[in-house]
Amino acid sequence: MAARRTPCAAFLFLQISTTLWMSSAFTRNLSVELNPGSSAPPPGGDLVHVRAVGDNDTLHILFCSLGAPTLLLVRTAVTSSAVSVDWPRFLSRNTSGSLRVEPASSIVSSAALVFSRLLEYDDVNNTAEAPFDLFPPYQLQDVAWSRAELSGAAARLCGAVARGSVCLQMSVFAGEGRDQSWPRLLHTANSSQVVVRLDSLTARSQRSRFLLELQTLGGTHPLDAVQVRRSIDDEFTPSIFKVSEWTSRPNRSSDDTGAFVLWKQVSYRRSPPALEDASPCRHSDPRRRSGRALAEVSGLVRAFFADEDQGERAFGLNVSFGLAGEPFYNATKFLSWTALVGVGLPPTDAFSPLVAAIVAVGLGAPLVILLMGGVYVYLRKMSPGSASGYEPIN
Ligand SMILES: *[C@@H]1O[C@H](CO)[C@@H](O)[C@H](O)[C@H]1NC(C)=O
Ligand SMILES: *[C@@H]1O[C@H](CO)[C@@H](O)[C@H](O)[C@H]1NC(C)=O
Ligand SMILES: *[C@@H]1O[C@H](CO)[C@@H](O)[C@H](O)[C@H]1NC(C)=O
Ligand SMILES: *[C@@H]1O[C@H](CO)[C@@H](O)[C@H](O)[C@H]1NC(C)=O
Ligand SMILES: *[C@@H]1O[C@H](CO)[C@@H](O)[C@H](O)[C@H]1NC(C)=O
Ligand SMILES: *[C@@H]1O[C@H](CO)[C@@H](O)[C@H](O)[C@H]1NC(C)=O
Repeated sequence: MAARRTPCAAFLFLQISTTLWMSSAFTRNLSVELNPGSSAPPPGGDLVHVRAVGDNDTLHILFCSLGAPTLLLVRTAVTSSAVSVDWPRFLSRNTSGSLRVEPASSIVSSAALVFSRLLEYDDVNNTAEAPFDLFPPYQLQDVAWSRAELSGAAARLCGAVARGSVCLQMSVFAGEGRDQSWPRLLHTANSSQVVVRLDSLTARSQRSRFLLELQTLGGTHPLDAVQVRRSIDDEFTPSIFKVSEWTSRPNRSSDDTGAFVLWKQVSYRRSPPALEDASPCRHSDPRRRSGRALAEVSGLVRAFFADEDQGERAFGLNVSFGLAGEPFYNATKFLSWTALVGVGLPPTDAFSPLVAAIVAVGLGAPLVILLMGGVYVYLRKMSPGSASGYEPIN
């Protein structure tokens, strides 16, 4: 997608200066491994490991299709930590501790995001509101996922669902930036991005809409709240002003140990995304879920989290695509949605220089006119001839 507005010289300067500022920001060294320590491609799913080394810490990003697709982020306070997998135990999916990040004492934070189910409902009255008239859900743990396709620090998994495909594209970044295509989320070296695409699924009704069920397990803090931030700046995601941040309630002592899932409240009905194909998405409130049930669904959750962690710290929510009156899935047979998963605090969009300049001009111009008017009136009053101008008409 080409830029929507063409910046003039002054804006260009501002943009260049922010680009320079960005490139000096925090970066990590990335290395990617597929199925670390396994001699052959394991049956039943792939495990992608991206090791992202910072100045004083390491972020391990694991993406796995053993069971429901799962993204696990583990941050350690050292630059030498490593992932070790006991493959026979990992594949049998019945014990915790078969995937370890060592040394365990260096772990600062960890969190998993599980894509557990895809739900479809018949929106007979075109309300896009609960209670939903649900079809039997697609359990994503039962989907036969393709082998992970790697490209750089990105991996893609696809599964056949309803004679179409569900694909998850996970990307890890060395530094700050944005994708070329909308929603152009701001990512950092502390976050990874997942794009979910529902392509050519055979809808079970003419008025079908979809929900995606997500579950998280926070190793340090549960992700138990979603905050919606509003912005007046839609420079990077036209017409979308709301960002949802799924984090721990903001009463935790240190932000270093937290994790987040963030998304703009938009999905797109075509690829590549275009403005006219944008469709708002909404989410339900996070609800406590059974961590044990989550460990049944996700091989990575089972393998990494200790049994006692699996109990208390799981939360889930549904993201629903489309609002009342909008085209149904059938209209384009495509849907994409993008989220960012990271550690620390969620990145916030600073005012883009372009919008800042527009606001400055918008507020500044009337002020200048007012001032000039004031000066003009003042000068008129002061000038000797002015008195005659206001003499009463006889
Ligand atoms: C890394 O550690 C060094 C020495 O302890 C410290 O000076 C530096 O600020 C740290 N860097 C970051 C990014 O935390
Ligand atoms: C896990 O499963 C394997 C085989 O799939 C079995 O040999 C082992 O005893 C099981 N372990 C536990 C703790 O259930
Ligand atoms: C649709 O509307 C009809 C009539 O108002 C109502 O009886 C029915 O329960 C609605 N169906 C759903 C799924 O909301
Ligand atoms: C990412 O994490 C590192 C290490 O904790 C921290 O120094 C840096 O400020 C973080 N960067 C962002 C953009 O949050
Ligand atoms: C929409 O779905 C219904 C039911 O599956 C199907 O009969 C119909 O042909 C579909 N319409 C389009 C435009 O694909
Ligand atoms: C998602 O929605 C379905 C249907 O309304 C519901 O059964 C399920 O519990 C929801 N999941 C979560 C995590 O709230």
